[in-house]
Amino acid sequence: MTTMESLIGLVNRIQMACTALGDYGGDDEAFSSLWDALPSVAVVGGQSSGKSSVLESIVGRDFLPRGSGIVTRRPLVLQLHKIDEGQEEYAEFAHLPDRRFTDFSLVRKEIQDETDRVTGKTKQISPIPIHLSIYSPNVVNLTLIDLPGLTKVAIEGQPESIAQDIEAMVRSFVDKPNCIILAISPANQDIATSDAIKLSREVDPMGERTFGVLTKLDLMDKGTNALDVLEGRSYRLQQPWVGVVNRSQADINRSVDMILARQKEKEYFATSPDYGHLASKMGSEYLAKLLSKHLESVIRARIPSITSLINKTIEELESELDHLGRPVAIDAGAQLYTILDLCRAFDRIFKEHLEGGRPGGDR
Ligand code: GDP
Ligand code: NA
Ligand code: MG
Repeated sequence: MTTMESLIGLVNRIQMACTALGDYGGDDEAFSSLWDALPSVAVVGGQSSGKSSVLESIVGRDFLPRGSGIVTRRPLVLQLHKIDEGQEEYAEFAHLPDRRFTDFSLVRKEIQDETDRVTGKTKQISPIPIHLSIYSPNVVNLTLIDLPGLTKVAIEGQPESIAQDIEAMVRSFVDKPNCIILAISPANQDIATSDAIKLSREVDPMGERTFGVLTKLDLMDKGTNALDVLEGRSYRLQQPWVGVVNRSQADINRSVDMILARQKEKEYFATSPDYGHLASKMGSEYLAKLLSKHLESVIRARIPSITSLINKTIEELESELDHLGRPVAIDAGAQLYTILDLCRAFDRIFKEHLEGGRPGGDR
C-alpha cells in the first residue's frame, strides 16, 4: 500500500473488510462503529427517478441491470478508481477476487446473478451488499452505494411489505450522520412529491449532507424550466443542486455510447437558453468531481476522530486475536488480520496526511 492510494480508496477497503467479517457471522461492536464512522455516499430516489442512469453516467459505462419492477435488490457498493489514460478499463467483484471483467455486459449479468444467489428468484430484498470496483480513466476516485428505489406499491410476485422493507433498508443507510445522501429527483415531477427529498428532509432537515440531483431536465413541459429547484429556491440545501440529462429510453435502446452521452449532456447545458449561465456546474461529470472532492474533504476533516476509533479497534482486534490464539487459520481469523493490517496502514497514512499537509496529495 503506497501513500499515493487515495484516502477514499483506503476508507473503502476498511469498509469492505468490516463487511466481509460481518458475513462470517462476526457481530463486533468495534466493526459496526468503525463502519458507521467512515463516510459513504448513498444513492436515494424513487423508482425510475434516474438513479441507475446517474450512476452509469458517473462511471461512463453501461453496466447496471435494468428492467421494470425492483431491479436493485441488494445494496451495491461501487468503488471507482481512476487509472491512467490508455490503461485497460476493468471491473472486479469482491466475491470473485480472481476474475477481471473487461466486458461490462458480463458485469451486469454478474450483479443480477449475485443478487439472485442471495435473494433467490423471490424478488425479495437483502441488506447484504455486493462490492464492485471499477478501474477506469473515465472516473474520479469515489465510492457510491446504490440502493433499491423507493416505491409505493408492491407489484406482481412481490411480498406485500416490499415498500416498507425497502424504505427500512434505505433508512438504515441514510439515518447515519456520516452518510452523504445523493438524492435523485426527476424534473418532470413536482419536487414536493420527490421520494428522495421527502426522506432527506426527515433525516437531514438542515440539508447539510444531501446533494440534490435533478434528472430528466430534457423531459420537462415546453415553456417550463427547473431554475427554482436548481437555484435552491424550491428546496434549500447547503450544497448546490446539480441538474443532469441522462440517456433517454430511446438512447438506451439504440445503445448510445456513454461517453458520447456525456458529450451530448454538456452540449445541452452549454446551448440551453434556461441553464446556459449554470452550464459549468451542471452535468454528471461535474457531479462526480463535486462528490469526490466533498467525500475527500469530509474524510480529511474526520481524520482525528477516525484515527482514535481505529486505534481503539486495533487494541480490540489485538486482544481478540490473543484470545483466539495464533495462528488462526479460519477465514474469520484471516479477516481479522486483514482489518488489523488495514487499520495500521490507515493510521500511518492518516498521520502522514496530517503531518505532511500535502494539499491535494491524493490522486
Ligand atoms: P431508476 O429506476 O431510478 O434506476 O431509473 P433509470 O435510470 O433506470 O431510468 C428510468 C428511465 O428514465 C429510463 O428509461 C431512462 O432512460 C430514463 N431517464 C433517466 N434519466 C433521464 C434523463 O435525464 N432524460 C431522459 N430523457 N430520460 C431519462
Ligand atoms: Na422520486
Ligand atoms: Mg435502477
